[in-house]
Amino acid sequence: MHIELSDEQRLLQDSVRQFAEEVVRPRAKEIDESGEFPRQFFAQAGELGLAGVTVPERYGGAGMDPLSYSIVIEEISRVCASSGVILSVNNSLVCDPILKFGTEEQKEAFLEPLAAGEMLGCFALTEPEAGSDPAAIRTTAVRDGDDYILTGNKVFITSGTDADVAIVFATVDRELRHKGITAFIVPADTPGYSHGSHEYKLGVNASGTTELAFAEMRIPVSQRLGEEGAGFKVAMSALDGGRLGIASQAVGIAQGAFEEALEYSAQREQFGRPIGEFQAIQFYLADMSTEIDAARLLTWKAAWAKGSGRRFSLEAAQAKLFASEMAQRVTSKALQIHGGYGYIREYNVERYFRDARIAEIYEGTSEIQKMVISNWVLQNT
Ligand code: CAA
Repeated sequence: MHIELSDEQRLLQDSVRQFAEEVVRPRAKEIDESGEFPRQFFAQAGELGLAGVTVPERYGGAGMDPLSYSIVIEEISRVCASSGVILSVNNSLVCDPILKFGTEEQKEAFLEPLAAGEMLGCFALTEPEAGSDPAAIRTTAVRDGDDYILTGNKVFITSGTDADVAIVFATVDRELRHKGITAFIVPADTPGYSHGSHEYKLGVNASGTTELAFAEMRIPVSQRLGEEGAGFKVAMSALDGGRLGIASQAVGIAQGAFEEALEYSAQREQFGRPIGEFQAIQFYLADMSTEIDAARLLTWKAAWAKGSGRRFSLEAAQAKLFASEMAQRVTSKALQIHGGYGYIREYNVERYFRDARIAEIYEGTSEIQKMVISNWVLQNT
């Protein structure tokens, strides 16, 4: 089994790390506090090919593999989890489904600018009454000649405050449950489209989470993504890639917190020596590095499975479940190593601790990942 990164992937890792250190890290603390959406970062990331990592070059992307995508999200999240999730959503929940299900006209109009970082995307599935059970959405799509009329509300939409385009899921018939769901590509300047204000959250504070409202938006059939009634599969297959992105984000957050803890334990002295010389701290560091590596390997396995072209729901769910819960444990230990200093805003470690928590919730809670995993295990053994 070969688990070394290729020369190309190492080069990518080095260059994204440099971009993260030089461009993202200096503003990470500030945008967490202000909640300012890092629009400039997104444009710069787009210029480097990071907004559409796996999108083929002919559609404006970097044409790389899913493992390269995982490396990008890990490296950005290692310094700023908000920036990590903005990129992850644009790549896997917006570019990926347009690449997989879109027409050539849709790819030209939307995928190319999205992959170039000239347009920012969001994924509008969740509703006030439909979170873990998206088959129950109430946003309606009523056919009217060559258009559909979309009416409804969405909540918790990452990048919703700043997105230029949304993948919107609506039902043509609620009785049909998942078989009625249909996906649409909706520009944010469509009459009837509006967004709420930025939710004030525990973490990933700069990622612009908000509500969307659709008041009788008229959407041409040419902006329907996939067939009528096939939207649930569009959403689920996009979320497989999204879960790979969130697993990568969680690994990056944990890695960033671990590095803070390592540095602090070498500097901080108590009882006349650096605390890193005490076995209690050394054992914390040993557990943290082991858990990060385990999560990274599961995440890379999911990336490899995605690259094989087959359905990888199992691997994506396992990686997200383990990596998100690992990030919770690792960031908590990193904070503990910092003692009282870890609890104050001056140090970065409390931000990592807060940012890690959402990875267990968005793009399917840990409980949903366990449903996906157990369904697969029960059906295939
Ligand atoms: N790929 C392709 N098809 C899939 C699929 C996948 N990953 N998962 C399911 N399907 C198909 C099934 O094969 C089935 O097809 P048929 O009708 O042909 O049989 C159909 O979809 C229905 O499947 P299920 O019966 O398994 O569906 P379900 O209603 O029981 O739901 C679930 C399964 C796993 C619980 C799913 O509802 C789920 O993932 N829920 C969580 C939703 C979620 O992650 N929401 C997050 C929203 S995004 C976000 O967080 C915001 C953000 O901005 C970051």
